[in-house]
Amino acid sequence: MKALVLSGGKGTRLYPLTYTRAKQLIPVANKPVLFRVIEAIRDAGITDIGIVVGDTADEVMDAVGDGRRWGVKITYIRQEAPLGLAHAVKISQDFLTNDKFVMFLGDNVIQGGITSLVDEFVNSDYNAQIVLTPVKEPQHYGVAELDEEGNIIRLVEKPRNPRSNLALVGIYMFDQHIFEAVNSITPSWRGELEITDAIQWLVEHGYKVRPYIHTGWWIDTGKPIDMLEANNRVLLEMEHEVRGYVDRDSKVDHNVTIEEGAEIINSVVRGPSVIGRDTRIVNAYIGPFTSIYHDCHIEDCEIEHSIVLENTTIVGIPHRIEDSLIGRNVEIRRSPIKPKAYKMTLGDNSKVGLL
Ligand code: G1P
Repeated sequence: MKALVLSGGKGTRLYPLTYTRAKQLIPVANKPVLFRVIEAIRDAGITDIGIVVGDTADEVMDAVGDGRRWGVKITYIRQEAPLGLAHAVKISQDFLTNDKFVMFLGDNVIQGGITSLVDEFVNSDYNAQIVLTPVKEPQHYGVAELDEEGNIIRLVEKPRNPRSNLALVGIYMFDQHIFEAVNSITPSWRGELEITDAIQWLVEHGYKVRPYIHTGWWIDTGKPIDMLEANNRVLLEMEHEVRGYVDRDSKVDHNVTIEEGAEIINSVVRGPSVIGRDTRIVNAYIGPFTSIYHDCHIEDCEIEHSIVLENTTIVGIPHRIEDSLIGRNVEIRRSPIKPKAYKMTLGDNSKVGLL
C-alpha cells in the first residue's frame, strides 16, 4: 500500500498568510498540518509516500525533506497547474503503479487517524473506499447520496442543492481501477478533473466503492476559522508536557505544553495551549486554545483562542487579542511616538479588528 498526499494549491482563502507560505505548512498546535498527515499515514503502516506539489514545491520540499525523520520515503510529484484531484492521481500513476493507495489531502485534519480505515480497505475486495461525514453546509464539498442500504447512488461535487448532508472527507482509498476512471472523465465547470466524478465513474461501471461514515471530527483547514477550530481540537486531544522553564511567579495549567527553551515569566497560561521552542512569555496572560509558535516574544498583553506564528513580537497591548491568526515575523507594539495614532504596515488582504 502506498500513499499520495496532495500539497499544491494557492490557499487563497488563507491570504495573507499563504502569500508567503504553503497552506499545508501552517501549524496547528505548533505542528504543520502536512506533518500531521504524514504521521497519520506512517502510523497506518505506510512508508512509501508520494507528495504532489505545485507552486509552493520548494517550500514543501524544504520543510518535509526525504521523510527519513518520520521513517518514511517521500517521492515528490510535480503538478504543473492545479487541475484537480483526479488530475493529481493521473500524473502519479508511475509512482503508484498497481498498488492500492490512500490519497490524503494535505490540509485535512481527522480525529483518530486512518489506521483502521486503511486496514479495512486492504483486507476487503473493494475497489475504492471513501470517507463521508455529516456537515452543516454540504454545498461546499463533494456530496454523497446513499440508498437505504447505505450504497452509493450518486456523488456530486459542490452541488447547489445537496441531496444529503454527507460530505466527502479528503481521504480516499483506491486500487488501480481509478486510473481508468481519471482517464475517462472530463473537466468540471471549474476546469478541474474532479475526484468526485472519477469515483462516480467507478460506481457507474460496476466497481465496488465503499462509503465509510466517519463520526469523529474532521476539519478541512481552508479558512482562518477552520484553522482555529482545528487548533482547538488538537490542543484538547494532545498530550501535554512542560519541557521549558516556568518561573515561580507564573501559573501554568496542567494541559499546557511548554517546548524546549521556552520561558514563562510572571505570566498565566491557561490550557489547552502550547508555547513554542525558545519563545518568551513575560507579564502576559495566554488564554485557553492558543498556540504560540517558536521564537516569539509576548509581553504585557493578553492573548486567547489564537494562533501566533514564529518570530512574532507582541508587546504592551492594552486590550485582549482573541480569535486571531497572526503570521510570521509580525510586530505588534504600543508606539510611544507622537501623534497618538494607529501605525500599521499590513500585507495585502490583512484583516484587523480594532476596538
Ligand atoms: C475537495 C474535494 C471535495 C471534498 C473536499 C474535502 O474540495 O473536491 O469533494 O469534499 O476536498 O476537503 P476542494 O478542496 O478542492 O474544494
